Amino acid sequence: MIKLTIDGIGVEVEKGTSILDAAKSVAINIPTLCHDDRLKPSGACRICGVEVEGSDELQASCTTPAREGMVIHTRSDRVAAARKQLLELIWEDHPNECLSCQKAGECTLQDLCYDYGVEAEGFAPLKVRTPLDTSNPFYTFDKDKCILCGKCVRVCEELQGESAIHFVQRGHETMISHPFEKGMAFSTCVSCGNCVQVCPTAALMPKTEEKFRVWDIEKKVRTTCSYCGVGCQLDLVIKDNKVVRVDAARDGENEGMLCVKGKFGYSFLNHKDRLTMPLIREGGVFREASWDEALDLVAGRMTEVYDHSGSDAFAAFASARCTNEDNYVLQKMMRGIFKTNNIDHCARL
Ligand code: SF4
Ligand code: SF4
Ligand code: SF4
Ligand code: FES
Repeated sequence: MIKLTIDGIGVEVEKGTSILDAAKSVAINIPTLCHDDRLKPSGACRICGVEVEGSDELQASCTTPAREGMVIHTRSDRVAAARKQLLELIWEDHPNECLSCQKAGECTLQDLCYDYGVEAEGFAPLKVRTPLDTSNPFYTFDKDKCILCGKCVRVCEELQGESAIHFVQRGHETMISHPFEKGMAFSTCVSCGNCVQVCPTAALMPKTEEKFRVWDIEKKVRTTCSYCGVGCQLDLVIKDNKVVRVDAARDGENEGMLCVKGKFGYSFLNHKDRLTMPLIREGGVFREASWDEALDLVAGRMTEVYDHSGSDAFAAFASARCTNEDNYVLQKMMRGIFKTNNIDHCARL
């Protein structure tokens, strides 16, 4: 363990801990744009710079290890001025579109510009717009709103294992691109959307049928993805009682990652034909029923069949679109209550 001081607070952390994590351990929040706990630190944005006594330059806290005896200031006037200047330089190359941007309210760049008092017209924000890349069926890429933090590139390479996108060109021309700059769709991209999830601005945005901003969101509902047995955790974003976006849960076993189905395959949830109530067939016609009525009917009929014909009259067919827990309970009910091993699963198709 090593001891250091951050903003006057004594901190003790394991050797090798970054200054950023050391600060976090005592609830000191240092702003970041390119950092993600799951990725190797890249030091790309420098917004996390802090003052270390005895050092002439500000140090990027995400890439600099804490050392014994360090005295660090994360909110000094010098640090704040440097962050403001960095933001002004980013803003100079950014479209002044917060008024109409769907990311407004959950955009890290916008939040930091507010925190550090960056004026929208301080520099001359970008006027000539690059056309939006809409070639991918599930997300758009707006080159002009990209701040080159590189999180998308690193997520794609380090976590998703695709390396579908990367930095191209040099200097002021640097941008994120797929091979040969033909459009996001013309690459090995599998449309998992994990880059979209981490983008701090509106450079990568999901294509949505609904126009909404963060304050239109009524609630988020944590659930388990219904597409396969992995059981990824996700948050359904609800507006007007409709699912308008899916966010991967960072605190689930999937650690903020999803595949294309979980991330973008949610339109069935809003479909008018989706069954939302149990149906009971009477005289060849379905009518809606309450869950209690439907379950009582099923339980009664199953008991009748069991009493009359015994275990061999039963078979259960489960679904990969249920959770592991649902499938476990079903087989337990069949084996334990109905005493049959007639259990199968559609995954065996
Ligand atoms: S990406 Fe962020 S900073 Fe840029 S226009 Fe949209 S809300 Fe504003
Ligand atoms: S959607 Fe997935 S595969 Fe495609 S670029 Fe983003 S992270 Fe890579
Ligand atoms: S597209 Fe988004 S995540 Fe990727 S480098 Fe640009 S701002 Fe960062
Ligand atoms: S968050 Fe540290 S350099 Fe970007």
